[in-house]
Order: sequence, then C-alpha cells, then structure tokens
Amino acid sequence: MHLTLRQKLGATHSIDDLRDAARRRLPRMLFDFMDGGAQTESTVRENRAALERIRLVPSALAGVATRSQGLDLFGAKSTMPLIIGPTGFAAGFWARGDVALARAAAKQGIPFVISMSSGSTLEDIGHAAPGTHWFQHYMPRDRERTKRLLPKLRDHGVDLIEVTVDTILPGRRLRDIRNGFSSPIVWTPRKVASVLAHPDWLVRTGRHGIPRMAIIEGESHAKKAANLSEVMRPHFDEALSWDDIKWLRDQWPGKLLLKGVSDPRQLRPTMAAGLDGIVISNHGGRQLDGAIATIDILPEFVRETGGRFPLLIDGGFRTGTDIVKALALGATAVQVGRATLYGLATAGEAGVSYALAILRAEIDLALAFCGIGDLTQLGRDSVRVASRYAIPDEIVVRPAGPKLVSG
Ligand code: FNR
Repeated sequence: MHLTLRQKLGATHSIDDLRDAARRRLPRMLFDFMDGGAQTESTVRENRAALERIRLVPSALAGVATRSQGLDLFGAKSTMPLIIGPTGFAAGFWARGDVALARAAAKQGIPFVISMSSGSTLEDIGHAAPGTHWFQHYMPRDRERTKRLLPKLRDHGVDLIEVTVDTILPGRRLRDIRNGFSSPIVWTPRKVASVLAHPDWLVRTGRHGIPRMAIIEGESHAKKAANLSEVMRPHFDEALSWDDIKWLRDQWPGKLLLKGVSDPRQLRPTMAAGLDGIVISNHGGRQLDGAIATIDILPEFVRETGGRFPLLIDGGFRTGTDIVKALALGATAVQVGRATLYGLATAGEAGVSYALAILRAEIDLALAFCGIGDLTQLGRDSVRVASRYAIPDEIVVRPAGPKLVSG
C-alpha cells in the first residue's frame, strides 16, 4: 500500500516509531549502516541504557505556565538545547538529505553541523538554508588539504568547526561487513531483491543518482572499499595528536570544538589549546565497542569545569526527557545523529521537522513536570543517578596502573 508522507508521519508518535518507519522504507544495508554500531554494539545499547537509568525528579506547584527552552550557543540564539550533529551519507537515506537536515534545522532555529562526508556542496546547503552553519572536519595527515578547505568554509558562512578525533581508524561495523555494503556496491541477488522491495527509496534515489562526497570530491578518498566505513580511511590519521589540534587552532579564527572525547583527562589540554568546547561523544557506539556511555562520563567533565566550559554531548538521545537529563547533569546542549536521520529516512525534510517537533514537545513536557520555567533553572536537583562508575581511590593515586609488562 502506498502511503503519503503525511500518512506515514501521522502513524508515528516518537523517535522509536520513526526508527520503525525508517526500517520499513530503507533497503536493509542502508538501514543497518545508519542504525548499527561497532562489533557487538554494546556501546550503542549502553548509551541508551545509561540514559534510561537516570531518573528525573518531578516537582509540582512551581507556577511554570510559561516555559522557554531557548539558549545562547556560541554567541547565537538557539530555540532548543539541540543541535543536528554531522552524519555522512545522509543523501543515501533521502535524496539531498544534507540539505533537508539543514533546512529543517534552520526552520526550527537550531544549529546543523555539515558533515565533511556530506553529499551536498557547501553552496547547495548555503542556498537552501541561508545563515551560519557549523562544519565537522576530519584532520587528514596532509595539512595542505585542511589549508585549502578552511577559506572555503569561511566564505560559506561557517563560523564553528567540530574536529572529530575518535576516527583515527574506521570502526569495525559488522552489519556493514555482513551486508557487503561496499563502495562501489557489488550487486548480489540478495541486495538487488532488497532494493526492489523498497520502491519508494529506489525511485527517489534513482532520480538523483548515487550520492557522492560533494565536499571532499577530488580529494583522495577510497574509491574502492570493502565496506562504507573504510571509504573515509584516507581522511583519518592514526598519528593524530595535540600538535595537529594546536595547528588547526592557529589556522582557524572561528570557534573550534573537539568532537569525540570521552576521557575527562583531555579536558585540560583542550582548554589550554584555546578550544571553545567539547562534544563528549563515542560516535554513537560506531567506533570503540565497549566504550562507556557518554552520559555516564559527563559528570566527571562537569566536576572539572564547574560549568565554565561548553560541554556538548551525543550518543543515544531519542527523547526529550533524555535531553533534559543531560542538561540537568550539566551538559550545555545535546547533539543528535540517528534521531533526526530516522525522520529523514521516513519523510525527508518533513520527517526531520517532525522529529524535531516531537523532541521539542517532549522537552517542554519534562520541563513542566520538573517545575522548570527556563533552562537556567535546570540543575542537578532535577535528577538522581545511581552511581555505577565511581573511580576507586586506588586508581586515582596510582594513575598509571600496575606495570605487568616490562621492556
Ligand atoms: C555518524 N557520525 C558522524 N560523526 C562525524 O563526526 N562525522 C560524520 O560524518 C558522521 N557520520 C555519521 C553517519 C551516521 C549514519 C551516523 C549514525 C553517525 C556520528 C554522529 O555525529 C554522532 O556522534 C552519533 O550519531 C551520536 O549518536 P546517536 O545520536 O546517533 O545515538
């Protein structure tokens, strides 16, 4: 049965519903690429489980008939404590997907981070969604590439860069390997059957052609890769170090954030290098399987900064209450990856706007029930955490750990 976009969205009431709808609309290998994570996917599950373990404290009789979820983010007003984070290959889920994400974000008045592996050019995104944008950068070993890109970013109104540091190697994503999601696609009867069984996706994608890497086109990226995570390998650098970050700081006059930090020990060097903030992230569980949930490590960052340094966070955020929990624990704002991609894959820009509307309504409800009129009132009092990852004293006084191997 063919459903219109309105009918498809009308049957969805949560981000999880949109995930189900996305699963139905996309060929298997595409849904798995979006939804999956590294190896056993324990970190994907843990990001969610940790958020669910944290409990909000409802607080009645606060007289909160008017509520606001607006805030200042790096000198600009945002209508929600939410950012659409960078996701490569969005155009594989919906034709011109990056433009759809950018437009929906602009209409809601929130930031959108253009992925370095975007399928649309900076010009296209700028045309469709005028205004300032954020950009996500991988640091290739060859600094000349970065040098060539930075002036272009400035010309296109980018005022903030998130440099992703948790991708020195591609994650080992077993769903992609098992599905044979290679570049270029090697067609097997099973893959052809899966695509034919999803005509809506096929027709829309067929009309626009196979998505390309529009921003880094011409730069060397793997033209052939056993699975999609490998395509960006030439843009990753195993030797990436603080020297590279300091160099980038010197080259880029705008705001600069590190994305992909989970270790609180990296906070001080980040601040010392003159960066403007951190995105606490494990890449949505797509890189190191077994990594700690970001929400579980957030309090250690907050303890260190005392709220004086911007801390964004992502990983597993699927409801407005999840977002309120992170803010109560001291995050400045939350980035989402899959939440808005599920909307995109279901209904393009309308689906992204719908996902944002769901999150906005859920944030508002949580604020109302917790007796919070605006985000400045939200703090540690509104949450309770069963502490599972306290650092034992002996680790603190013996930071290097026992030396079992010599030489
Ligand atoms: C990503 N992510 C990502 N991050 C990045 O810095 N550059 C990128 O190009 C991409 N590409 C990408 C594609 C897809 C399909 C996904 C799902 C994710 C990671 C992303 O920015 C973010 O860290 C996670 O998605 C956050 O977890 P949730 O919100 O998806 O659970």
